Amino acid sequence: MPHVPQTVQYYPGWDAFKALPLSQKITFFEQNGEYFHTIFAQQFTRKKLDELFILADHIRDIAKNQQGRLALQGVLADKRAMLFFAQPSTRTFLSFLNSCHILGVKTSEIRDTATSSEVKGESGEDTIRTFASYVDLIIMRHKEEGYAEKSAWVLNQATRPVPVINAGSGKDEHPSQALLDLYTIQRYFKNRDGIHGKTIAMVGDLNRGRTVRSLSQLLPLYQNVKIIYVAPDGYKMRPDILAFLKEKNVPVHETDDFKSIIPEVDVIYMTRLQDEYDMDSESQHVDYARFHFTRSELSLLPPHAIIMHPFPRRLEIEVSIDKDKRAAYWEQEVNGMWARSALITRIFRREHLVENINTC
Ligand code: NCD
Repeated sequence: MPHVPQTVQYYPGWDAFKALPLSQKITFFEQNGEYFHTIFAQQFTRKKLDELFILADHIRDIAKNQQGRLALQGVLADKRAMLFFAQPSTRTFLSFLNSCHILGVKTSEIRDTATSSEVKGESGEDTIRTFASYVDLIIMRHKEEGYAEKSAWVLNQATRPVPVINAGSGKDEHPSQALLDLYTIQRYFKNRDGIHGKTIAMVGDLNRGRTVRSLSQLLPLYQNVKIIYVAPDGYKMRPDILAFLKEKNVPVHETDDFKSIIPEVDVIYMTRLQDEYDMDSESQHVDYARFHFTRSELSLLPPHAIIMHPFPRRLEIEVSIDKDKRAAYWEQEVNGMWARSALITRIFRREHLVENINTC
């Protein structure tokens, strides 16, 4: 049985902690380089991603028959998880919930803060500590950037530290989405050197989309990747990510001419306008139709390329494109459940129980 360390390091003072460089924060969110909290995409190393993809494939293989599905439910049958989703969610919520069910984790949920004691004036910190009194894992989504990070920091000083998975933190990060996005690219291109050497275009509201920010931070882990950012004026990728990619020597091309880049891509990653973050209905003035993938663009897309979307979709991809074999987004959605199952298994160091399942 692998040893699961019970203690995590604590850093006093939230403001001081918040100001630390990411590389230093990460050590407080892990246990000797091993999983504990999953807050930032950059916590995933190449080794961790490779292992998670293999584990995700293995879990979904085992789940192909009844005996396997029942055995998987024993992997984490002694654990309980809290899904705290204070922002709307369909896929992320359901895929995490069903990952828990696949592995036998019992779940409770709060999806509306109006039903929790925060409306009675309880602080976010007390709310999080309360969750930790009852469960072994907290999966959380919040509109505030840094809420998941602060929750993890708070829990590091609790008598019973409980791991936190960030399932979307405002306009900032969505690390488990980046995990499933890479898993999807890896699977589609498994006979074409996986993610290495791919040209990936991210299209839409890159300024406020957290999926594209998290994905961008992991792409430098792969060789010879090129990124094309396609966004309307005022919605371009933020400078912090551009600086990060420059430091990692990843070639980046920025444009607002969507059509022109379609023939060059291996992966085209569409996103919607994140208008819930508007200050003054400003995105109503954007001509977003220029960033829609319609049937007429399909002939421009290379035959081997794939189209992705984290969803929800509005008009970014014409529905009739779903039938094209290059449409990868429905599969991407399914991949999320398996990639998240692998992540939860690893957080609890239970991969050996998965390995021991006899699939014959
Ligand atoms: C995304 C999100 O919530 O950031 N959706 C998701 O998690 N699958 C993308 C979006 O809402 O546009």
